Amino acid sequence: MPQLSEACAVLTAAGSGSRLGCELPKALVSLSGRPLVWWAARGLRAGGVGMIVVTAPASSIEDFRAALADIEDVLVVTGSDRSRQASVALGLAALGHRDADAVVLVHDAARPLTPPEVSARVIDAVRSGAGAVIPVLPVTDTLKTVDASGLVTGTPRRADMVAVQTPQGFRWDVLTRAHEAGASRSADEAVAATDDAGLVEAVGGSVQTVTGDERSLKVTRPLDLALAQLLAAEEPSA
Ligand code: C5P
Repeated sequence: MPQLSEACAVLTAAGSGSRLGCELPKALVSLSGRPLVWWAARGLRAGGVGMIVVTAPASSIEDFRAALADIEDVLVVTGSDRSRQASVALGLAALGHRDADAVVLVHDAARPLTPPEVSARVIDAVRSGAGAVIPVLPVTDTLKTVDASGLVTGTPRRADMVAVQTPQGFRWDVLTRAHEAGASRSADEAVAATDDAGLVEAVGGSVQTVTGDERSLKVTRPLDLALAQLLAAEEPSA
Protein backbone atom coordinates (compact mmCIF):
# COMPACT_ATOMS: atom_id res chain seq x y z
CA MET A 1 0.00 0.00 0.00
CA PRO A 2 1.40 3.48 -0.81
CA GLN A 3 2.55 5.47 2.23
CA LEU A 4 0.20 8.37 3.10
CA SER A 5 2.16 11.63 3.16
CA GLU A 6 1.93 13.53 6.44
CA ALA A 7 -0.47 16.49 6.60
CA CYS A 8 1.15 19.93 6.84
CA ALA A 9 -0.32 23.18 8.17
CA VAL A 10 -0.26 26.95 8.04
CA LEU A 11 -0.90 28.38 11.50
CA THR A 12 -1.95 32.03 11.18
CA ALA A 13 -0.67 34.20 13.98
CA ALA A 14 0.11 37.57 12.38
CA GLY A 15 -2.88 39.42 13.85
CA SER A 16 -2.71 42.13 16.51
CA GLY A 17 -4.18 41.90 19.97
CA SER A 18 -6.25 45.06 19.61
CA ARG A 19 -9.72 43.54 20.26
CA LEU A 20 -8.27 41.71 23.22
CA GLY A 21 -7.04 45.06 24.52
CA CYS A 22 -3.39 44.04 24.72
CA GLU A 23 -0.17 45.39 23.22
CA LEU A 24 1.41 42.00 22.49
CA PRO A 25 0.50 40.18 19.27
CA LYS A 26 -2.55 38.11 20.29
CA ALA A 27 -0.84 34.78 19.56
CA LEU A 28 1.81 35.55 22.22
CA VAL A 29 -0.74 36.17 24.97
CA SER A 30 -0.21 33.67 27.76
CA LEU A 31 -2.65 30.90 28.58
CA SER A 32 -1.68 28.93 31.67
CA GLY A 33 2.00 29.89 31.18
CA ARG A 34 2.28 29.18 27.45
CA PRO A 35 1.37 31.51 24.53
CA LEU A 36 -1.75 30.86 22.43
CA VAL A 37 0.39 29.92 19.40
CA TRP A 38 2.19 27.20 21.39
CA TRP A 39 -1.10 25.57 22.39
CA ALA A 40 -2.39 25.75 18.82
CA ALA A 41 0.81 24.22 17.33
CA ARG A 42 0.90 21.48 19.93
CA GLY A 43 -2.74 20.61 19.24
CA LEU A 44 -2.12 20.34 15.49
CA ARG A 45 0.87 18.07 16.06
CA ALA A 46 -1.17 15.79 18.34
CA GLY A 47 -3.87 15.66 15.66
CA GLY A 48 -1.44 14.20 13.10
CA VAL A 49 0.15 17.26 11.45
CA GLY A 50 3.83 17.18 10.43
CA MET A 51 5.39 20.43 9.19
CA ILE A 52 3.78 23.59 10.61
CA VAL A 53 4.47 27.05 9.14
CA VAL A 54 3.53 29.86 11.53
CA THR A 55 2.86 33.31 10.07
CA ALA A 56 3.94 35.89 12.65
CA PRO A 57 4.07 39.71 12.74
CA ALA A 58 7.39 40.96 11.30
CA SER A 59 8.33 42.74 14.53
CA SER A 60 8.04 39.62 16.71
CA ILE A 61 9.58 36.80 14.67
CA GLU A 62 12.26 36.04 17.27
CA ASP A 63 9.72 36.02 20.12
CA PHE A 64 7.64 33.49 18.19
CA ARG A 65 10.69 31.32 17.50
CA ALA A 66 11.53 31.34 21.20
CA ALA A 67 7.93 30.55 22.17
CA LEU A 68 7.85 27.54 19.82
CA ALA A 69 11.42 26.30 20.40
CA ASP A 70 10.35 23.04 22.07
CA ILE A 71 8.03 21.97 19.23
CA GLU A 72 9.80 20.26 16.31
CA ASP A 73 9.20 20.92 12.60
CA VAL A 74 7.88 24.42 13.08
CA LEU A 75 8.95 27.20 10.71
CA VAL A 76 8.16 30.80 11.69
CA VAL A 77 7.78 33.20 8.74
CA THR A 78 6.64 36.80 8.38
CA GLY A 79 2.89 37.11 7.79
CA SER A 80 1.07 40.01 6.21
CA ASP A 81 -0.22 43.05 8.05
CA ARG A 82 -2.76 43.49 5.21
CA SER A 83 -5.08 40.50 5.64
CA ARG A 84 -5.36 36.97 6.98
CA GLN A 85 -5.71 35.72 3.40
CA ALA A 86 -2.37 37.30 2.48
CA SER A 87 -0.76 35.73 5.56
CA VAL A 88 -2.06 32.28 4.55
CA ALA A 89 -0.67 32.78 1.02
CA LEU A 90 2.77 33.55 2.50
CA GLY A 91 2.52 30.45 4.69
CA LEU A 92 1.65 28.25 1.70
CA ALA A 93 4.64 29.64 -0.21
CA ALA A 94 6.88 28.78 2.75
CA LEU A 95 5.59 25.19 2.77
CA GLY A 96 7.09 24.90 -0.71
CA HIS A 97 6.00 22.39 -3.32
CA ARG A 98 3.68 19.58 -2.20
CA ASP A 99 1.97 16.78 -4.11
CA ALA A 100 -1.42 17.77 -5.55
CA ASP A 101 -3.18 15.33 -3.22
CA ALA A 102 -1.24 16.26 -0.07
CA VAL A 103 -3.37 17.39 2.88
CA VAL A 104 -2.87 20.96 4.16
CA LEU A 105 -4.65 22.46 7.16
CA VAL A 106 -5.09 26.16 7.87
CA HIS A 107 -5.58 26.94 11.53
CA ASP A 108 -5.82 30.14 13.60
CA ALA A 109 -3.53 30.58 16.59
CA ALA A 110 -6.55 32.37 18.03
CA ARG A 111 -8.05 28.87 18.60
CA PRO A 112 -5.48 27.45 21.02
CA LEU A 113 -7.57 24.66 22.55
CA THR A 114 -8.85 22.84 19.47
CA PRO A 115 -8.85 19.16 20.47
CA PRO A 116 -6.55 16.96 18.32
CA GLU A 117 -9.58 14.86 17.32
CA VAL A 118 -10.92 17.80 15.30
CA SER A 119 -7.72 18.00 13.21
CA ALA A 120 -7.78 14.23 12.82
CA ARG A 121 -11.43 14.34 11.59
CA VAL A 122 -10.59 17.07 9.08
CA ILE A 123 -7.51 15.20 7.79
CA ASP A 124 -9.48 11.95 7.46
CA ALA A 125 -12.23 13.66 5.47
CA VAL A 126 -9.69 15.12 3.00
CA ARG A 127 -7.97 11.74 2.70
CA SER A 128 -11.37 10.18 2.02
CA GLY A 129 -11.79 12.36 -1.07
CA ALA A 130 -13.06 15.83 -0.07
CA GLY A 131 -11.25 18.80 -1.62
CA ALA A 132 -12.13 21.16 1.23
CA VAL A 133 -13.34 20.39 4.76
CA ILE A 134 -14.48 22.66 7.60
CA PRO A 135 -15.37 21.86 11.23
CA VAL A 136 -18.75 23.34 12.18
CA LEU A 137 -21.17 23.59 15.11
CA PRO A 138 -24.87 24.45 15.16
CA VAL A 139 -25.60 28.09 16.03
CA THR A 140 -27.55 28.81 19.19
CA ASP A 141 -28.31 32.51 18.63
CA THR A 142 -30.93 33.60 16.12
CA LEU A 143 -29.13 35.32 13.23
CA LYS A 144 -30.36 38.34 11.23
CA THR A 145 -29.03 40.17 8.20
CA VAL A 146 -28.93 43.97 8.58
CA ASP A 147 -28.24 46.89 6.26
CA ALA A 148 -25.75 49.73 6.82
CA SER A 149 -28.31 51.71 8.85
CA GLY A 150 -28.89 48.81 11.24
CA LEU A 151 -32.30 47.90 9.81
CA VAL A 152 -33.06 44.17 9.73
CA THR A 153 -33.29 42.83 6.17
CA GLY A 154 -33.91 39.17 6.90
CA THR A 155 -33.93 36.20 9.24
CA PRO A 156 -32.20 33.13 7.80
CA ARG A 157 -33.54 29.82 9.07
CA ARG A 158 -31.34 28.93 12.03
CA ALA A 159 -31.48 25.24 11.18
CA ASP A 160 -29.71 26.06 7.89
CA MET A 161 -26.85 27.93 9.58
CA VAL A 162 -23.64 26.65 11.18
CA ALA A 163 -20.74 28.36 12.95
CA VAL A 164 -17.42 27.65 11.26
CA GLN A 165 -14.15 26.87 13.05
CA THR A 166 -10.58 26.01 12.09
CA PRO A 167 -8.52 23.98 11.26
CA GLN A 168 -9.92 23.87 7.75
CA GLY A 169 -8.43 21.13 5.59
CA PHE A 170 -7.74 20.95 1.87
CA ARG A 171 -6.16 18.97 -0.88
CA TRP A 172 -3.03 20.97 -1.69
CA ASP A 173 -4.02 21.72 -5.31
CA VAL A 174 -7.54 22.86 -4.30
CA LEU A 175 -6.27 25.37 -1.74
CA THR A 176 -3.35 26.75 -3.74
CA ARG A 177 -5.54 27.29 -6.84
CA ALA A 178 -8.24 28.99 -4.76
CA HIS A 179 -5.64 31.33 -3.25
CA GLU A 180 -4.16 32.14 -6.67
CA ALA A 181 -7.64 32.98 -7.96
CA GLY A 182 -8.39 35.06 -4.84
CA ALA A 183 -5.17 37.04 -5.22
CA SER A 184 -5.83 37.81 -8.87
CA ARG A 185 -9.39 39.04 -8.33
CA SER A 186 -9.55 42.85 -8.49
CA ALA A 187 -10.53 44.64 -5.29
CA ASP A 188 -14.10 45.41 -6.41
CA GLU A 189 -14.75 41.81 -7.52
CA ALA A 190 -13.18 40.41 -4.38
CA VAL A 191 -15.43 38.21 -2.27
CA ALA A 192 -15.31 38.98 1.42
CA ALA A 193 -13.76 35.60 2.20
CA THR A 194 -12.95 35.56 5.90
CA ASP A 195 -11.85 31.94 5.68
CA ASP A 196 -10.04 29.70 3.22
CA ALA A 197 -13.09 27.60 2.41
CA GLY A 198 -14.72 30.84 1.20
CA LEU A 199 -12.02 31.11 -1.46
CA VAL A 200 -12.73 27.54 -2.58
CA GLU A 201 -16.48 28.34 -2.74
CA ALA A 202 -15.69 31.43 -4.84
CA VAL A 203 -14.12 29.26 -7.54
CA GLY A 204 -17.05 26.82 -7.50
CA GLY A 205 -15.43 24.16 -5.31
CA SER A 206 -17.51 22.14 -2.87
CA VAL A 207 -16.82 22.20 0.84
CA GLN A 208 -17.66 19.33 3.19
CA THR A 209 -18.42 19.75 6.89
CA VAL A 210 -17.33 17.67 9.88
CA THR A 211 -18.27 18.16 13.52
CA GLY A 212 -16.32 20.87 15.34
CA ASP A 213 -15.88 21.22 19.10
CA GLU A 214 -16.91 23.82 21.69
CA ARG A 215 -13.38 23.81 23.13
CA SER A 216 -12.17 25.14 19.79
CA LEU A 217 -13.41 28.60 20.78
CA LYS A 218 -11.83 31.65 19.14
CA VAL A 219 -10.04 33.99 21.53
CA THR A 220 -11.08 37.42 20.30
CA ARG A 221 -12.34 39.45 23.27
CA PRO A 222 -11.36 39.47 26.98
CA LEU A 223 -14.27 37.18 27.95
CA ASP A 224 -13.05 34.54 25.46
CA LEU A 225 -9.60 34.66 27.05
CA ALA A 226 -11.08 34.23 30.53
CA LEU A 227 -12.96 31.11 29.37
CA ALA A 228 -9.86 29.74 27.61
CA GLN A 229 -7.85 30.27 30.83
CA LEU A 230 -10.33 28.11 32.73
CA LEU A 231 -10.18 25.35 30.11
CA ALA A 232 -6.36 25.48 29.78
CA ALA A 233 -5.90 25.13 33.52
CA GLU A 234 -7.12 21.53 33.13
CA GLU A 235 -4.60 20.70 30.36
CA PRO A 236 -0.90 19.79 30.79
CA SER A 237 1.30 22.66 29.49
CA ALA A 238 4.66 20.91 29.31
O1 C5P B 1 -8.47 38.87 13.21
P1 C5P B 1 -8.92 37.45 13.38
O2 C5P B 1 -9.07 37.06 14.83
O3 C5P B 1 -10.09 37.06 12.54
O4 C5P B 1 -7.70 36.60 12.84
C1 C5P B 1 -7.79 35.20 12.69
C2 C5P B 1 -6.37 34.64 12.65
O5 C5P B 1 -5.67 35.16 11.52
C3 C5P B 1 -5.55 34.97 13.89
O6 C5P B 1 -4.88 33.79 14.32
C4 C5P B 1 -4.59 36.05 13.39
O7 C5P B 1 -3.34 36.02 14.05
C5 C5P B 1 -4.43 35.68 11.91
N1 C5P B 1 -4.09 36.85 11.05
C6 C5P B 1 -2.94 36.80 10.27
N2 C5P B 1 -2.62 37.89 9.46
C7 C5P B 1 -3.40 38.98 9.44
C8 C5P B 1 -4.59 39.02 10.23
C9 C5P B 1 -4.91 37.93 11.03
O8 C5P B 1 -2.19 35.80 10.30
N3 C5P B 1 -3.04 40.02 8.68
